[in-house]
Amino acid sequence: MLIAAITEAALPSKAVMPVPAHIRRIILTGFMGAGKSTVGRRLAAELGWKFLDVDAALEETYNCTIASLFEQHGEEGFRRFESSAIVRALGSDHVVVALGGGAPEILTNRLLLEQTPGSFVVFLDAPFGELFDRCMLQPDAAIRPVLANPEAAAKRFEQRLPFYKRVARLTLETSGRTPEQTVEQLLSEMRALHAIKP
Ligand code: S3P
Repeated sequence: MLIAAITEAALPSKAVMPVPAHIRRIILTGFMGAGKSTVGRRLAAELGWKFLDVDAALEETYNCTIASLFEQHGEEGFRRFESSAIVRALGSDHVVVALGGGAPEILTNRLLLEQTPGSFVVFLDAPFGELFDRCMLQPDAAIRPVLANPEAAAKRFEQRLPFYKRVARLTLETSGRTPEQTVEQLLSEMRALHAIKP
């Protein structure tokens, strides 16, 4: 009786098992404003997994904002810190990870994402104009260094597209969809890819 009670308490709050056992982490990639953190948090809650936001982890580790890391170490320095944080994130199991929008620009990060066993990478896509508008509506709009120059940001979006697509097993169009709908679609497409019945 006691054993049964302990086992039950250790189970995730929702006994949903839509993810095949060999997938131990789901990584969300995409440009700023794609909804990686919002979708990631909801997905983790749905699965009873942890949620890890790489930007938030960096801010906690270095006890300063992403904008200050850019200011103090330049983008190159920031990218080195980011790669180390990604290595740490990929060492965790049963976790949903939201990457920073620029992570797949870096070859080391792409190799890590492609070659770490147990990782399932999902690209959250939307047109640049919509992503930019979404970011401008967010409270931290002014502190995203890569958005400071909208024309340069649009160019980087175009340059990054092939990288997002290359690292991802699944691309989801998020335009006109709520985060809940995106989570639902992600899980159903993942089940379909692995022939799992809901
Ligand atoms: C960046 C995106 C940001 C953050 C940093 C750089 C980028 O993350 O890592 O400001 O180069 O696109 P989000 O995509 O979570 O905003």
